[in-house]
Amino acid sequence: MIKFDRHRRLRTSAAMRDLVRETHVLKTDLIQPVFIEDGLNGKTEISSMPGVFHFGMDSVLDEIKEIVDDGIQAIILFGLPKDEDKDEFGTGAWSDDGIVQQATRLIKKNYPDLIVIADCCMCEYTSTGHCGIVRDGYVQNDESLKYIARTAVSQAKAGADIIAPSNAMDGYVAAIREGLDNENLINVPIMSYAVKYASSFYGPFRDAANSSPKFGDRKSYQMDPANRLDAMRETISDENEGADFVMVKPSMAFLDVMREVKDQTKLPLVAYNVSGEYSMIKAAAQNGWIDEQSVVYETLTSMKRAGADLIITYFAKDFANYLDNQK
Ligand code: PBG
Repeated sequence: MIKFDRHRRLRTSAAMRDLVRETHVLKTDLIQPVFIEDGLNGKTEISSMPGVFHFGMDSVLDEIKEIVDDGIQAIILFGLPKDEDKDEFGTGAWSDDGIVQQATRLIKKNYPDLIVIADCCMCEYTSTGHCGIVRDGYVQNDESLKYIARTAVSQAKAGADIIAPSNAMDGYVAAIREGLDNENLINVPIMSYAVKYASSFYGPFRDAANSSPKFGDRKSYQMDPANRLDAMRETISDENEGADFVMVKPSMAFLDVMREVKDQTKLPLVAYNVSGEYSMIKAAAQNGWIDEQSVVYETLTSMKRAGADLIITYFAKDFANYLDNQK
């Protein structure tokens, strides 16, 4: 008799498999992105992201109702100002009547228990499309910190529960923490996009947010996808500066980095399942090449398995429905 192990013993039935499943994606793990567009009436579908919409101030509450009814308890807000309101200082990002500030006030007034996370960046608001202030063709680090801190403070004052800075300047966590604390906003956490790669997977988002750089690229501030030690250094810096969450972005091509960050940090880890990852799955599913529901399940599960505690995903609502329909 040859001797071997019987791994299949624990796979004999659905109930047996349920019993030994190691990783679960829960509704409470998911964060739904919401795009809000200044001046828009109703909603328009983003052509490169089927099933994802821009909402006007008049339609956003309908969307929020659906999200809340589906059992999702956190959203991340992105704002699209009017083209004529963009300038070199990204004024729309930090003004009290900016699109995100207005939307936050409206949403929190109607849904006080929903966690509203404000993406804190400037690229949607600057005329250059860069995430900071540009001089001599270079995105200025220290000068940009002042504006990113201002943005965070105005978002928190509007009622944002969490500030999520994504502009990839060195020192932004420290600058934002100081800005918030000076205004006594001591209980507003910072969810840092600590490990943010310069990735082509953001393509559909940049169409959606109209935030592509007008010249050059983001490689002097976002990270080189070839580097993992850089991810560890960024995580350490952001922790030391006072981040409350750290994020890895994108997800699918960076699961190794996600695991490594998880093993290094004691903070909650967030995976951003980005626009290009969403659109690839949607496109293949629409062609009938893959089964969307099970591919989304595998994808989100891989992020949890790699160590993510939370996942920002355009599939959040859909996934909540899959979970409901499984029962
Ligand atoms: C803003 C920002 C971007 C994304 C989130 N915040 C775009 C970028 O850095 O160019 C991308 C999100 C996605 O692709 O889903 N800086």
